[in-house]
Amino acid sequence: MPGLHHQRLFFREFRRNFRTTGAILPSGRALALELARYVRQPPFHGTPRKILEAGPGTGAVTRQLIAALAPADALVLVEFNAAFVDVLNGRLAGDPHFTSAAGRVRVLHGKVEDVAEVGAYDLIVSGLPLNNFGRHDVARILATFGRLLRPGGVVSFFEYAAVRRAKTLLSRDHERRRLHGVDRVLSRWLGEHRLRSELVMANLPPAWVHHARPVRSRD
Ligand SMILES: C[S@@+](CC[C@H](N)C(=O)[O-])C[C@H]1O[C@@H](n2cnc3c(N)ncnc32)[C@H](O)[C@@H]1O
Repeated sequence: MPGLHHQRLFFREFRRNFRTTGAILPSGRALALELARYVRQPPFHGTPRKILEAGPGTGAVTRQLIAALAPADALVLVEFNAAFVDVLNGRLAGDPHFTSAAGRVRVLHGKVEDVAEVGAYDLIVSGLPLNNFGRHDVARILATFGRLLRPGGVVSFFEYAAVRRAKTLLSRDHERRRLHGVDRVLSRWLGEHRLRSELVMANLPPAWVHHARPVRSRD
């Protein structure tokens, strides 16, 4: 059963690469659907869109993105973990939910921060576990989203509800300072760019999905 196989693999990668994997299980359907909200909106005058997914993992969100693609849209998947890259390529070759779009989906193995394009994407959907990173990494990733998006483009990403605050209360010195730093960077960025945030209760654990339209500062 592919679902169970993906869950096992995800858990194995969580134990091996806790910081970058950032979750025990792939996202549930409700969370994936909320992340795909802007991809589901029909493109303006049918103009083809270029969409990027950062951190697709085993493809739980990708599946909903593919279902929401308009016929001429293109999707780029940027995944850091080689084991997940193999799963994604396998799904594009043999999973009926993926194969129909295989010609319009490209998998890149690497970090999203290293994607060199500027203003190339209409939409970005991110599964990156920002709360596991340092504040400078979070700031760099948010700046990357702003650089990759065309003006007016939208980025959608999630964080588990209350986890950052709860961990801040429970952790000590260095870790608490890190989480405070991430909180400040994320809150300030969302304060400037947020379109809407939706709480998805039907996920384990419940999660906030943030949708934002970054305004690029002049270089
Ligand atoms: C929390 S998992 C989300 C997986 C999937 N989107 C889901 O919702 O089930 C985070 C994913 O981001 C990947 N990742 C972490 N840092 C990354 C980076 N800098 N660039 C690209 N992928 C990254 C991890 O390998 C992992 O697949």
